Amino acid sequence: MLRLRFILPVMALGLAAGTAMAQMGPSSVWQGIYTPDQAARGDGVYQQACGACHGAALGGTGEAPPLIGGEFISHWDTMTVGDLYDRVRTTMPQNNPQSLTREQYADVLAYLLKANGFPEGAVPLDRRSEVLATIGITAEKPASGATGQ
Ligand code: HEC
Repeated sequence: MLRLRFILPVMALGLAAGTAMAQMGPSSVWQGIYTPDQAARGDGVYQQACGACHGAALGGTGEAPPLIGGEFISHWDTMTVGDLYDRVRTTMPQNNPQSLTREQYADVLAYLLKANGFPEGAVPLDRRSEVLATIGITAEKPASGATGQ
């Protein structure tokens, strides 16, 4: 259960101070930051726009590195979901960067997170880089309690 006694006063404070909703959002990729539907849509986007180079099962082909497993995650460990989102959004598909909508990039990112074993949740991944920049990527799941779940 979420700790409502803690969260409600914080929300009240946040609203009173006019701070962005983003600050109340998840802070870790382990908190369930995308929905199953979103990841399923992302699978479709991936197969259309990414799979030819990165492989249908994300294992990589030729120059295109794997997007699954330890090496991939280690590149992004301690960075944010916003960093990964912007990297993909501005440089991929490598043969046609920025050709997808922000929603499609968020969907494909949800698919990558699912494939890499990060948990799904009830709220879809946001399309705004500044919101995603508040969510940290860590290869290891933080000690219990640290995720707020
Ligand atoms: C035309 C081939 C091609 C396509 C299509 C393509 N990529 Fe890439 N991708 C590459 C290559 C080559 C690299 C390595 C060079 C580089 O980093 O730019 C790369 C690198 C990456 C990286 C960095 C990997 C790491 O370990 O940090 C990510 C993430 C990525 N691609 C995601 C995607 C996604 C998501 C799509 C679909 C929207 C996509 N790519 C489509 C060729 C491609």
